[in-house]
Amino acid sequence: MENAKVFVVTSGKGGVGKTTIVANLGSTLAKKGYNVCLIDADIGLKNLDLILGLENRVVYTIIDVVNGNKTVMEALVRHKKLKNLSLLASSQIANKDMISPDDMSNIISKLSKHFHYIIIDSPAGIERGFQNAVSAAQHAIVITTPDLTAISDADRVVGLLENQGYNDENISLIVNRLKLRLVKRNEMLSADDIKEALALNLLGVIPDSEEILLSSNEGIPISENPNGKLYSVFNNISDRILGKNVPIEKDFAGFDRDSESFFELLKRIFSRRG
Ligand SMILES: Nc1ncnc2c1ncn2[C@@H]1O[C@H](COP(=O)(O)OP(=O)(O)OP(=O)(O)O)[C@@H](O)[C@H]1O
Ligand SMILES: [Mg+2]
Repeated sequence: MENAKVFVVTSGKGGVGKTTIVANLGSTLAKKGYNVCLIDADIGLKNLDLILGLENRVVYTIIDVVNGNKTVMEALVRHKKLKNLSLLASSQIANKDMISPDDMSNIISKLSKHFHYIIIDSPAGIERGFQNAVSAAQHAIVITTPDLTAISDADRVVGLLENQGYNDENISLIVNRLKLRLVKRNEMLSADDIKEALALNLLGVIPDSEEILLSSNEGIPISENPNGKLYSVFNNISDRILGKNVPIEKDFAGFDRDSESFFELLKRIFSRRG
């Protein structure tokens, strides 16, 4: 196998959906047949294992690998159903100083031969541990919600990524928790407003949906529920990661039955300004 493509998922503001998106992109890519390894680099907070329903199966963590107790392949937890999805879990008791950017690079280079995609769940940009997570990746996916504080924090994290050598070719944006009804009433920034503000490649738009809450609580990824409305959204984003050209408006399909006004909405959101 060739070397893995390595993505880091990050944000400026906390709580905007990074862990949720890592879990669901990972499972969707795995479902499509790719070997995927997720790394929980948010040391001190265990999240990714819960969302994936793997919390009872975590025996070793990234700290065991850094300390040399286990090889990285020994430390991986495999998903019960999605056999080609693996997780390198973080440790709740460890602190972020126990891992350095070099440790992370070593881990990634060992994993790289075994996987098509490695996706790192990072802490928010303002936190320690951000550096570890971003230094070893090739592509950064910045997550924001459509509110001004999250967007200005996202803008700041893009600056931090640029300081780390990233540029607009390998940074892309996902707008999470978009409420279409509010955009329609002009009460929320549209995806295009956000993209213009940050001048980034838009990788996807994820509507606000209680499906996320249900799937996280049950530990059943969106990829396992083809009848859900979010299924196609994560499918679209995964296809864009795979290099396919899937129009952004496809992410909203199924979220609005009023197709005529929906078309007007799309025109408003996606007509490029001057
Ligand atoms: N599209 C969505 N619709 C509805 N709820 C969502 C959506 N995305 C995320 N959430 C909810 O938002 C909360 C925060 O999500 P998550 O833990 O993934 O964020 P995070 O960025 O990883 O947070 P942290 O910075 O603390 O690591 C969770 O309760 C999650 O279920
Ligand atoms: Mg998180």
